[in-house]
Amino acid sequence: MSLSRGTILVVDDERGIRESLKMILKDKYKVVTFESPEEVLKNSSIDVDVIFSDIKMLSMNGISFLKKIKSLKPEVEVIMITAYPSFSTTLEALRCGAFDYIVKPFNKDEILRVAERAIQKKIELIENERMMRDLTHSLQENYQATIDALILAIDAKDAYTARHSRRVSYLFGKVLRKIGFEEDKIDLLTHIAGLHDIGKIGISEYILRKPSSLTVKEYEEIKRHPLIGYKILKSMKFLKNGLSVVLYHHEKFNGQGYPEGLKGEEIPYEVRIFSIIDVYDALVTDRCYRKRMSSREALRELESRGGKDFDPRLITLVVPILSKIEGYK
Ligand SMILES: [Fe+2]
Repeated sequence: MSLSRGTILVVDDERGIRESLKMILKDKYKVVTFESPEEVLKNSSIDVDVIFSDIKMLSMNGISFLKKIKSLKPEVEVIMITAYPSFSTTLEALRCGAFDYIVKPFNKDEILRVAERAIQKKIELIENERMMRDLTHSLQENYQATIDALILAIDAKDAYTARHSRRVSYLFGKVLRKIGFEEDKIDLLTHIAGLHDIGKIGISEYILRKPSSLTVKEYEEIKRHPLIGYKILKSMKFLKNGLSVVLYHHEKFNGQGYPEGLKGEEIPYEVRIFSIIDVYDALVTDRCYRKRMSSREALRELESRGGKDFDPRLITLVVPILSKIEGYK
């Protein structure tokens, strides 16, 4: 849309009205004219900023046309033209989204003034939209900087978690794509996967790095990390649809997991996939309390836990995919 001039569409079944509006407006704006509302609706792909429409036309009532055009192009401003202004029709036009109305016979200045006001309103609208886009962009940048800082903090506290998070994010993306998830969803879920253990920021370094087994009390402490992570991220509205990965990634298919002890399909589908990948990466990585397994051993271990820790149908689906992903470390 070129608002340096703006495009105005005139629809009126009286040729005289169409011509006189065109004469008045053509020096300032690009003007297109149509004889009937049906013609306008047929050509609704035309890029217009403002429409002048008669209220009383033979083929279609101007108010019906206004409703249709506003549902198709809510951003277009519509000015109604009437020869017989009645309070109820005017009120209805304004209620249906008309920008203003003018009464025949009109004069040149009046037409130019109302057209200019409508164009100005569109310019403001475009400017507001641009500001909203910029604001959202800068919020997301700030958010990203905050998350990066949290990841660095976790990295300093527990380097394993930071590297593990990057790896599972990569694997999760590969598996989801193979299963046929949509790209938007994959983007969100892989992003979340990189943050799934962010709650460990609230767990003591001593417990995270402890080389021997944890005491019951220490284990209770580590079990808090999904909820801590969820609380850190829950105010980020654009992550909302993926936060179950953070909150439920330690739930088990048999209901023996935490934090809520969800069972079977109570655990969201993508989380049941994620938990397989999360454990797989842990098994094939050296930890302070045990040596890593080979990929083949790890996959066998996952299979042996189908129906217990993991959804057995998803084990059948995900294990073959994981077995074909090589060199991800
Ligand atoms: Fe975790």
